[in-house]
Amino acid sequence: MIRKIKPHFTIGEVARMAGIESRALRDWEADGRVPAARRDESNHRIYDFDEARRIVHQMQGPQNRRIAVVNQKGGVGKTTTAFNLAGALVARGRRVLAIDLDPQANLTASLGLELTDDESSVEELFVDEKMDAQSVIQATLFPGLSCIPARPRLAGVEIKIFDAFLRETILDRKLEPIHDQFDFIVIDCPPNLSLVTVNALVACREAIVPIEAQSYSIKAISDLTNTVALIRSRLDRGVTLRFLPTKIDGRLKVGREILTAIESGLKDRVLAPIRTDANLVRAPMMRTPVGFAFPNSKGAKDYARLAQVILETPVEETV
Ligand SMILES: Nc1ncnc2c1ncn2[C@@H]1O[C@H](COP(=O)(O)OP(=O)(O)OP(=O)(O)O)[C@@H](O)[C@H]1O
Ligand SMILES: [Mg+2]
Repeated sequence: MIRKIKPHFTIGEVARMAGIESRALRDWEADGRVPAARRDESNHRIYDFDEARRIVHQMQGPQNRRIAVVNQKGGVGKTTTAFNLAGALVARGRRVLAIDLDPQANLTASLGLELTDDESSVEELFVDEKMDAQSVIQATLFPGLSCIPARPRLAGVEIKIFDAFLRETILDRKLEPIHDQFDFIVIDCPPNLSLVTVNALVACREAIVPIEAQSYSIKAISDLTNTVALIRSRLDRGVTLRFLPTKIDGRLKVGREILTAIESGLKDRVLAPIRTDANLVRAPMMRTPVGFAFPNSKGAKDYARLAQVILETPVEETV
């Protein structure tokens, strides 16, 4: 079963996305600063995604941010975070491109994309110098949400690009021409610190590092931090890491203790945690981000809060 994104937004929803009062939006319309909205059969204003997005842009400007979701440990919630953060940003009127960099292609599958043999994926984008990003972008069922999909043969990409010229900056260069088409590019990384992951880190100024509370490993975090330091010293690219505790069970003493340990180790760079919620397991099976599939769930609330924090705190300086 697939649930589609709501086809229309109300004036209250669009005003909230744009961070203003409904009254202000009505005034702007009366003054001709935004186009007059269409009306539904009850004469209420309705907006489709593009109309909502234009108003959000008018109020807040476009963002053009790229965020890598990275952690070389497996199963910590990277794909869950990329999928649901992308959904939550779209629900706030932002145009989002989700890029799947994992040969397991879980993000691609979560978004309901099935590639035919002759369709290109992110692998060709890396390997074929002439392939541009535009030709591998696919629309999803959700207005405002696009995807560059992966497929299993991406696993062989490392060897193919090993001798490539400026091999760490391939993705960065490929994304440059589509810069203006999206407010956010969210990149789901594979569970390793391979050349593909380095390409994601080089292409982004900021990264979210999901940390599964139960498997929190200081060593993994310091390996990742060292990679980021190397990228900065050798390639002169800085990435700000923010850490996202996942699968937190606040009712359990051990859950709270681990959270405290993570927070004391990583200090102010820790984002508000994502709680354990079975709806986060169900949503990808429904090919629908949790915010649309189960809007009242804990998972939907936690990822909505994450999206809000990301929107409110653009990363300026690098760590
Ligand atoms: N907050 C959560 N509550 C409950 N289950 C979760 C939560 N976050 C993730 N999961 C589940 O944990 C499993 C691993 O999550 P996910 O696939 O997002 O991790 P990953 O880091 O992308 O894994 P990999 O390294 O294999 O790519 C999935 O089955 C997912 O549904
Ligand atoms: Mg994954």
